[in-house]
Amino acid sequence: MSESSLKLVEPTVRAKAKLTIDRMQQEMRKRGVADIYKWCLFYTTDVIGELSFGESFRMLEIGQKNTYVEDLENVSRRGGIRAGLPELAFIARYIPLPFMSSAVESGKRFHQYSTESIQRYKRLVAADPNTPATLFSKLFRAGEEGMSDEEIISTGQGYIVAGSDTTSNTLTYLLWTVCRSPQTKAALLAELATLPADFGADALRELPYLNQVIEETLRLYSQVPGGLPRVVPPGGAYMAGHWVPPGTTVSAQAYTVHRNPGVFPRPEVFEPSRWAAPTKAMTDSFVPFGGGSRICIGLHLARMELRLGTALFFLRFPNARVSTKEGMSDGDMETILYFLMAPKGNRCLLELE
Ligand code: HEM
Repeated sequence: MSESSLKLVEPTVRAKAKLTIDRMQQEMRKRGVADIYKWCLFYTTDVIGELSFGESFRMLEIGQKNTYVEDLENVSRRGGIRAGLPELAFIARYIPLPFMSSAVESGKRFHQYSTESIQRYKRLVAADPNTPATLFSKLFRAGEEGMSDEEIISTGQGYIVAGSDTTSNTLTYLLWTVCRSPQTKAALLAELATLPADFGADALRELPYLNQVIEETLRLYSQVPGGLPRVVPPGGAYMAGHWVPPGTTVSAQAYTVHRNPGVFPRPEVFEPSRWAAPTKAMTDSFVPFGGGSRICIGLHLARMELRLGTALFFLRFPNARVSTKEGMSDGDMETILYFLMAPKGNRCLLELE
């Protein structure tokens, strides 16, 4: 998952990003608006599905959720309940709660699907060593020192749950916010105009303003804004001048840390240029991917998807704007939180052309 390893998978991410933009354009022409929230979700879910299991969920092609993805959502929701309301998950062991038991069924189907995908991918690699790489290609080849199929399946499932909505919601808020801010859009378009025709992920990494827009979106629309618990190690610790005994669960949350006015002046304002020369306090307080030894493992992949998605979107749709058709309003984009943050209206309608 390092930046250098991810070079192998860049063609897959790029192809999916381009297909996403094509599909948005088709919807725009047919419906008069494009629901970018839906297409961003299909984009990131297809990317992580293909990179984990060697074949995508084909949501971009089909244009709607299939059973695998509904199963996946059920599994994620159950994970959210277990994290946020552990007592409910405990009760469900003794009293059948319909939602929890349907999530168990979904989990079984999803495991079966993952197993079949891994077996299929291994057969493809055995028949043709030039089969496109996945995130696990090196581990398959590592033989005895690699990971077992079962470990790869469960890690791949974790990646899919952790890497789809997080990235797609971030991209949705980014595109929506930039469309509402003519100055930001103009500065971004001017920078994108300097790209060569055959630009790749490396060129995007070097664009200062694009990356400032991404950082500012991650600050203001952190996808995991709530507490990420940690246990104080043996020996205890001093935190912010307080003694905290060993074994205590402590947590801090991105939502408030990212809105500390002493660190981020005018914290509620979307201001990408604040990242042009960040202070140490800003970088220390910036935790959209968590922190420490359990920091998000997919952050380089997420950034690659965000850069490609944003650049291809605004190069194709420089005049994109927020729509008021079908009753779309700012209320749809109010945030709602079930462990992950999401737009309340479950949609984000833009007019692209
Ligand atoms: C903008 C997109 C993303 C955001 C905001 C995000 C955020 C986070 C956060 C806050 C954590 C918890 C870290 C902690 O406890 O300190 C996490 C963990 C994790 N993320 Fe992401 N993530 C994103 C994308 C991805 C992607 C694309 C993947 C794909 C593989 C991924 C895989 C993971 C995994 C496997 C963990 C668990 C790491 C561990 O426990 O060691 N994430 N992510």
